[in-house]
Amino acid sequence: MNERLHQIHELALEELSKVSSMEELQNIRNTYLSKKSELMQSMSKMKDLQGEERAKFGQLINSIKMDITQKVEETRLSLEEKKLQEKLAKEVVDFTLPSSDYTKGSKHPFNLIVDEVSRIFIGMGYDIVEGPEVELDHFNFELLNVPKGHPARDMQDSFYIDETHLMRSQTSPVQAHVMLSKNGVGPIKIISPGKVYRRDDDATHSHQFGQIEGLVIDSNVNMGNLLSTLELFARSMFGEKRQVRMRSSYFPFTEPSVEADISCFECGGKGCKLCKGTGWIEVLGAGMVHPNVLEMCGFDTKVYQGFAFGIGIERVAMLKYGIDDIRKFYQNDKRFLSQFTKE
Ligand code: DAH
Repeated sequence: MNERLHQIHELALEELSKVSSMEELQNIRNTYLSKKSELMQSMSKMKDLQGEERAKFGQLINSIKMDITQKVEETRLSLEEKKLQEKLAKEVVDFTLPSSDYTKGSKHPFNLIVDEVSRIFIGMGYDIVEGPEVELDHFNFELLNVPKGHPARDMQDSFYIDETHLMRSQTSPVQAHVMLSKNGVGPIKIISPGKVYRRDDDATHSHQFGQIEGLVIDSNVNMGNLLSTLELFARSMFGEKRQVRMRSSYFPFTEPSVEADISCFECGGKGCKLCKGTGWIEVLGAGMVHPNVLEMCGFDTKVYQGFAFGIGIERVAMLKYGIDDIRKFYQNDKRFLSQFTKE
């Protein structure tokens, strides 16, 4: 009986050594390991044996079964490995083929202007500061000398979150944040780029747009400093030959207030379509910080003065790149956006 078992064992190992496919392997498994296989059926013969002989017979069947099971498993793994290697050999990668097309992103013109303006002012020693877009009415208006009911609020109607919070309508409240953080001690020299919101919507006004606020406070600051600062900015941004002129204007938080124009970079000041024949292009609002604002924000007006300015980011981009509709900044049209790639 034992001899037959050894024969079966050898036969199984021999067949396994010749296997070349999973089907063949499955057949061998059925032949030698299934319940109906000769090996498994021989278990039934145990009942005819006694004592040690019976135990040895059982052990022999078990060890043969385990060995065949293990060899079947090894053969399965090596068949799989062989299959994988064949597949890999067939799938040769050709590194010389051209790659599939991919699109390269580019900076949004809005951010190009923010980067450019920041670079210019950092060069003049300014710090960059950010402020919250959801703002308290107190900061957006009251600390900027625009109390409740003030008519200047009409021009800056925005989106209210509740009675005291709104989406900021200007970056000017950053002035108040910075001043209050300084506890009445200057100097301050900052710009603050960011988004602002208003209830506007036409070719030159969007409900969301960007501004860059500027604030300088020290004990010896005057309109001449403001003018030369704006001139330096205009020349770096729009060309060496630019001139700046100031026209008196009104903002509640500055006194005196001005609107600053630059000489037209298209016609050099002679008059053209871009400057509507005037030779000048309006670029920003500015002025000397109103004493009320300085005082409300903790600065002694006998010691400190300051100037401030506000630049419209899209306005500068529209002028610099010749863009005719502010809404294009927010429509995510790739044909528009891809034109501003630097390379
Ligand atoms: N905040 C003003 C606006 O949104 C722009 C502005 C004008 C800012 C004059 C200033 C300034 O700091 O001095 O219309």
